[in-house]
Amino acid sequence: MEKLGLLYQGKAKKMYATDDPELLWVEYLNQATAGNGAKKEQIAGKAELNNRITALVFDELKKRGIDSHLVRQISPTEQIVRKMTMFPLEIVQRNVAAGSFSKRLGVTEGTPLSEPVLEFYYKSDPLNDPFINDDDAVVLGVANREDLKEISALARTINEKLTELFASIDVLLVDFKIEMGKTSDGKILLADEITPDTCRLWDTRKAAGDDGAVKDGDIERLDKDIFRKDLGSIIPAYEEILHRLEGLAQSH
Ligand code: ADP
Ligand code: TMP
Repeated sequence: MEKLGLLYQGKAKKMYATDDPELLWVEYLNQATAGNGAKKEQIAGKAELNNRITALVFDELKKRGIDSHLVRQISPTEQIVRKMTMFPLEIVQRNVAAGSFSKRLGVTEGTPLSEPVLEFYYKSDPLNDPFINDDDAVVLGVANREDLKEISALARTINEKLTELFASIDVLLVDFKIEMGKTSDGKILLADEITPDTCRLWDTRKAAGDDGAVKDGDIERLDKDIFRKDLGSIIPAYEEILHRLEGLAQSH
């Protein structure tokens, strides 16, 4: 396969055309950003970790019946994916209060939610990815009602499968962001990436007290909050997630 021109340079990846109109060439970058690019750093090794982690997570989801855009990983920092018409949506699922949910609604970080919360954000850098509801999405032309129904159901199933998957490697899936798109034949598929950049992942090997509860200050973060909150290097945490996922992949 031939790599053609750069189609899009994002904050974490570059997307290239290929000689197959149905496929894209994705290059992961060492760049980390937070606050819509307000904080930006180059972090050696991040691209390889996220490329590998995404490939392993998408492979594990596939074993659990969830298809994605991933075709194959082709190098330490690159993968081939199906070209999709993306919904300009950040689809967030939450199981435990954290981040903007805690801030906006005054719920203490670490509080388990009585049921998973599904949120949509409109992907727009100039608008700072605002929170939107289904009606907003429809009038903005982001997705129609039928697509939103399918996206929501798929997001909830992905949350169930991912929660199980991470629990099996002693990681609590607090929340995560995914993106979806449509293939040329109209199928809605999981796309983009699933990495510690796009999930909150808490280590339950270390975090739980005698009563099983996670207490403030005890949280062992294995995700990009380490970067967002200036808590040190993300690399050991991302390596830990990768090693546990590799162990899981080898176990079956
Ligand atoms: P951002 O755009 O938020 O800075 P990235 O650096 O991760 O994020 O850029 C990747 C871009 O590619 C995103 O805009 C994402 O929506 C898009 N994308 C992801 N998967 C696909 C796909 N299979 N087909 C087309 N576009 C995709
Ligand atoms: P939030 O609490 O900041 O809204 O984030 C919810 C989840 O979504 C969290 O796991 C981080 C992820 N996320 C992204 O992947 N990209 C983003 O731009 C934002 C705001 C959140």
